[in-house]
Amino acid sequence: MSKKEYEKPVIIRVESGFSKAGVPLPKQRVRKSIGGVSINELVNKYGSPLFVFEEKSIRERYKRAYEAFSTRYPNVEFGWSYKTNYLKAICAVFHQEGAIAEVVSEFEYQKARELGIEGKDIIYNGPYKPYDSLMRAVKEGAKIHIDTFEEINDLERIAKELKKEVPVAIRLNMDTGVYPQWSRFGFNIESGQAMDAVKRIEAGGVLRLNGLHAHIGTFMLDPHAYYVETSKMVQFMNSVETKSGFSIEYIDVGGGFASKNRLKGIYQPPEIVVPSIDDYAEAITSAIYENIHGNRYPKLYLETGRHLIDEAGYLVTSVVASKTLPDSRRSYIVDAGVNLLYTYFWYKFNIELTEEKSGISEPSVINGPLCMNIDVIEDSILLPRLKRGDMLVISPVGAYNVTQWMQFIRYRPRVLMVMEDGSVEIIRESEDLSDIERREKLPKKLEIR
Ligand SMILES: Cc1ncc(COP(=O)(O)O)c(C=O)c1O
Repeated sequence: MSKKEYEKPVIIRVESGFSKAGVPLPKQRVRKSIGGVSINELVNKYGSPLFVFEEKSIRERYKRAYEAFSTRYPNVEFGWSYKTNYLKAICAVFHQEGAIAEVVSEFEYQKARELGIEGKDIIYNGPYKPYDSLMRAVKEGAKIHIDTFEEINDLERIAKELKKEVPVAIRLNMDTGVYPQWSRFGFNIESGQAMDAVKRIEAGGVLRLNGLHAHIGTFMLDPHAYYVETSKMVQFMNSVETKSGFSIEYIDVGGGFASKNRLKGIYQPPEIVVPSIDDYAEAITSAIYENIHGNRYPKLYLETGRHLIDEAGYLVTSVVASKTLPDSRRSYIVDAGVNLLYTYFWYKFNIELTEEKSGISEPSVINGPLCMNIDVIEDSILLPRLKRGDMLVISPVGAYNVTQWMQFIRYRPRVLMVMEDGSVEIIRESEDLSDIERREKLPKKLEIR
C-alpha cells in the first residue's frame, strides 16, 4: 500500500458574525432620516426605490469649496460639471450658489440654455462638438475649449462666416505623475503639440486664444498632481505670452477631486485617504503664485463635480425577498439594481439600515431585482436577519449615477430633493411605459391587434 502524501492542515476562517468573548459585534449602521425627514415617511409617501438628494448638503459643500479657493486666490469661479449630475434641480442649486455651467456635448449645452444659463456662462468642453452647436456657442459667447486641430478649422470657418474674431481656449494634457495619463483629450504640452496648436491658431488670424484648460482625471487622491498640473499650465501660459501675441485671461484646471466614497481595493477608510478641499486648493493656488510672472492674476476656473454632489445623494431600497445560498450566505433581493448604480463598478458603498435590528449579523449578499447574475450591489456584508419591506440606504451615490443609470428591465425610480426647510420635492418622476415606448414605431404589418 502506498503511503499517503502529507497535506499541510489549514484553518479556514468562517465569517459567522458571532462575537468572540469580549469583542463587540460590528455596530449596526443605522440612518433613520435624510435632511431631517424620516426615510419611512419618504417611502410610505413616494414608494421604493428612491433617490434622495439633500439641498442643504449640496449648498454647504459648494460654499466650503468656494471658500477654500477664494480665500487663497482672488479671482475664482466654479463651473458645475453637468455630466456629474444634470438633473435640473441639482444644476439650479449650483447656479444659485454662483457656479456657471460646464458642458461636454450639444445636449448638455441645450440643457444649460433651457435652464436659463446665458451662453457667456457656459464652458463648452468635449472631444466632439458638432458644427451647428459650435456655431450656436460662438454666437452666444460661450467659453469654447478646443480639443482637436479639426475643431480649430471648424471655428475658423465659423469666425469667417460671422466675420468676427472668436475668443477660444485650448485643452491641454500633460504628465502629472498619475498614470494612466489622460492624454487623449486636448493637446500635449511635453511633446510640443500644445505650442503647435497655439501657433496654428495665431497663424489663422481669426481666433484669439484667451484661456487654457486641463482636466487630469477623476477621483484623484493626490493633491500634488494638481500642483504639477497647475505649475505646467502657468509655465505654458508664460511661454504662450512670450512666443505669441496672445494674452491669457483664464486657466481652468478641471475637476477630479475625490468624494468620501470608498474605492474597491482601497482598504483604509475615506476619512484617511481622501484629501480635504483645502489640500487641493493649497496645491493649485500655490502653484499659481510660484509660477506666475508679474502681478497679473488670471481667473481660475474649477470644474469640480463628484466632490460637490456625491455625498448629498442616497438610494433608498427595500428588501423584496431573501434566501440562503448554498455557501450559507443570506441573499437579500432588493428593489434597486446595478442599472441604477453605475458607480458600483468601483465603489464599496455605505449600506445602512433604517432601524436597529435584534439578533446576530450573518454574512449576506445584496442582489438587485434584475434577472442578471451581475446584479450584485454588495457581495460581502454582515447584516442582521431582514424581512420583506425592510429598507437599506446606499450612499454616497450623488455623482454620476442619475446620469449614467440605465433603463434596463425595470423603470427608473423617482428622485426627490429634501429642501433646506424640510419640505420634499419630486425632482424627477419615476418612469412608466410611455417614457420607454415614446420613440418606438411598430411597422403596420407587425401589428398584433
Ligand atoms: C472636462 C471635465 N471637467 C470636469 C469633470 C468633472 O470631474 P469630477 O466629477 O471628477 O470632478 C469631468 C469629468 O470627467 C470632465 O471630463
